[in-house]
Amino acid sequence: MNDTFLKACRGEEVPYTPVWIMRQAGRYLPEYQEVRAEVDFLTLCKTPELAAKVTMQPIERFGLDAAILFSDILIAVEAMGMHLEFSDKKGPVLSDPVRTKSTVDRLVIPDTEDSMPFVIETIKILRSHLGVPLIGFSGAPFTLATYMIEGGSSKNFLKTKKRMFQNPGLFSLLMDKITSTVISYLISQIRAGAQAVQLFDTWAGILGPEDYKEYVLPSVKKAIAELKKEGVPVIYFVNECAALLKELRKSGADIIGIDWRIDLKDAIKGLGKKCVVQGNLDPCALFLPQEKMEDKVKDILWKGEFARGHIFNLGHGVLPESPVENVAALVEAVHRFSER
Ligand code: CP3
Repeated sequence: MNDTFLKACRGEEVPYTPVWIMRQAGRYLPEYQEVRAEVDFLTLCKTPELAAKVTMQPIERFGLDAAILFSDILIAVEAMGMHLEFSDKKGPVLSDPVRTKSTVDRLVIPDTEDSMPFVIETIKILRSHLGVPLIGFSGAPFTLATYMIEGGSSKNFLKTKKRMFQNPGLFSLLMDKITSTVISYLISQIRAGAQAVQLFDTWAGILGPEDYKEYVLPSVKKAIAELKKEGVPVIYFVNECAALLKELRKSGADIIGIDWRIDLKDAIKGLGKKCVVQGNLDPCALFLPQEKMEDKVKDILWKGEFARGHIFNLGHGVLPESPVENVAALVEAVHRFSER
């Protein structure tokens, strides 16, 4: 078992810097496209043999140090009682978005074993096959709330912010329900075999620090405190995190995921040297000539040394257009340049 990733999560000595890639299973891989030609995305997420197969595709192709469960953050939202579809053009669409108290009241806090048994089954299959640790994940409460209120992706998140500012009581009722769901969903993933968990807060960066502190941080802190009782590392990734570092320090997460818009050294300075960080290469660096990409990798590895621990990753998900050979070169470069 390659446990370099778990050691780095705990801030222990490692023989080299471990690397995994957000959205490492997906459309840039021809073998993923082959599976997707046969089934739609939600069916793929809900068929354990297939979900396990695509989880392992990048592991078999590259020397990655961790696998991430193949699923989507909106699977748990569907289980809360919303109708979910993925359209090729618009991305996710949730019909009947959350607007009133009655739409919040109708939402349930799902039991994972009953309503998402495929997730448990996928994790069990993966644990019997993988030679690297398995990361489970969930959307963080605020990011899930944005999808539930907007009904899908959004440009300025006006509907979300309106609810938040104009009806804080209703907004916090919604956040509480989502937070309970996230906690129970991730505890189930951990008990089924996930060896670390990541909370994706893709949209928390649309808020300034004061609003983040008031409307988002309490739920994140609560979820992380509960998850830490399970004894596995908790990673908290916030996209566009630069202005929020002071608040992220208080989240209680074992590892903070950093996007690429901030210099990793500055991020570590903002979080404090005792932190363990994950990141933060620009996903578009995979389109650079190899030598230039390697320079960026070296720079990030060097800066990562200032933290108590560093897990290499992109600063956000790998893009579907990414050349597969450059992803292979990236993983190889991280290992080669970081060998102790
Ligand atoms: O990282 C992995 O390899 C695990 C799988 C994973 C997916 N989604 C598969 C997926 C993970 C961890 C996610 C998280 C997710 N999903 C996030 C947070 C991370 C981030 O990227 O910010 C968000 C915001 C979503 C919601 C979502 N899912 C959107 C907006 C879309 C449409 C846009 C897009 O990228 O296609 C998806 C679809 C999705 N989720 C795909 C995959 C592989 C593409 C589906 C397809 O095959 O057509």
